[in-house]
Amino acid sequence: MRIVRHHEYGPSKVLVTEEAERPGYGPEDVLVRAEAIGVDHADVQRRLGTFPLGPPPLPYCPSTDVAGTVVAVGDRVGDFTPGQRVVVWKARNAYAEYVAAPAAHLLPLPEGLDAAEATLLGSTGRVAVHLLRTARVAEGETVLVHAGAGAIGHIAVQAARALGAARVIATAGSPAKRDFARSLGADAAVDHRDPDWPERVAEAAGPGGVDVVLDGVGGRQLLDDVKVLAPYGRLVFYGASGGDTAQPAIPALSLMGMRQVMGFSMPTLLGSRPAEAEEGVRLLLGFVRDGSVRPVIHARVPLAEAARAHDLLEERRSMGRVVLVP
Ligand SMILES: NC(=O)c1ccc[n+]([C@@H]2O[C@H](COP(=O)([O-])OP(=O)(O)OC[C@H]3O[C@@H](n4cnc5c(N)ncnc54)[C@H](OP(=O)(O)O)[C@@H]3O)[C@@H](O)[C@H]2O)c1
Repeated sequence: MRIVRHHEYGPSKVLVTEEAERPGYGPEDVLVRAEAIGVDHADVQRRLGTFPLGPPPLPYCPSTDVAGTVVAVGDRVGDFTPGQRVVVWKARNAYAEYVAAPAAHLLPLPEGLDAAEATLLGSTGRVAVHLLRTARVAEGETVLVHAGAGAIGHIAVQAARALGAARVIATAGSPAKRDFARSLGADAAVDHRDPDWPERVAEAAGPGGVDVVLDGVGGRQLLDDVKVLAPYGRLVFYGASGGDTAQPAIPALSLMGMRQVMGFSMPTLLGSRPAEAEEGVRLLLGFVRDGSVRPVIHARVPLAEAARAHDLLEERRSMGRVVLVP
């Protein structure tokens, strides 16, 4: 089978297509033929060697969400059968024609979604829902979603509304991305590259201010996030797509208005509170089924052109999800 990986850190051209054996699978695993493979921003940072939690061991093939068809199951797998279409949460060695994963990491592919859209039910869409749950978004609140046109961001903009937010403000780095965020239901979209973005967000929020901020960009922006929070507001930090791996220290005094700063990590949630993680999947599926969340695919790129897919994310041109198609 074909697999895409990199043997060094560097620009997208380090991604190479190679031949490899199909992955083996154990008694509790499922072998899946991939139809669509999600491309995450973290894949780009790992390729560059700048991932905030450290560079991956080489050679490296990303772990990401895959949708496809079951071709074989291990002896102890009862829930899935060959021929069934499924979504695999964070499959290892995922930029490949086949992936093997524990059955516990699979969901049946829901009717009404194509494989590319369904990849968002893996990690990416779940992160968006759990960020909002971590922030305890309540009916009538105002939510600010940074990078609201990104893969996680565009789901978060829609899910915030579905969870009862009265006002959703997105930030995005280009006019097209801001139009896109508004088309998904954001009441306002602000350019976070504008140094005055906190004022623009405050104007859009009105007198009640911002109750919740979701920030996966990080860096100095976090300091301004705290400033735009209303009393009792909550900031959830979940990534550093802006590239600042150091991250600023948030002054304790800025939290005196009963503000809270929280971190979110999907692996931690899954490891420590699996039941809560399950609830997030059910919630997201419900939103997709009732049409309140619409996954958007920006581009379907052939697997062998993975470098082009990475360029879309690295050059900040993607709106919604980019997938690879074997
Ligand atoms: N905590 C967790 O469990 C968890 C799980 C999955 C992913 N993540 C993190 O979530 C974040 C978003 O992931 P995603 O897959 O949704 O990414 P994405 O679709 O690429 O969105 C990231 C956005 O960040 C913005 N950005 C700001 N500075 C950037 C820069 N220097 N280079 C590239 N983009 C920049 C861009 O939006 P604008 O152009 O609008 O600025 C871009 O669209 C990443 O930091 C990722 O590592 C965290």
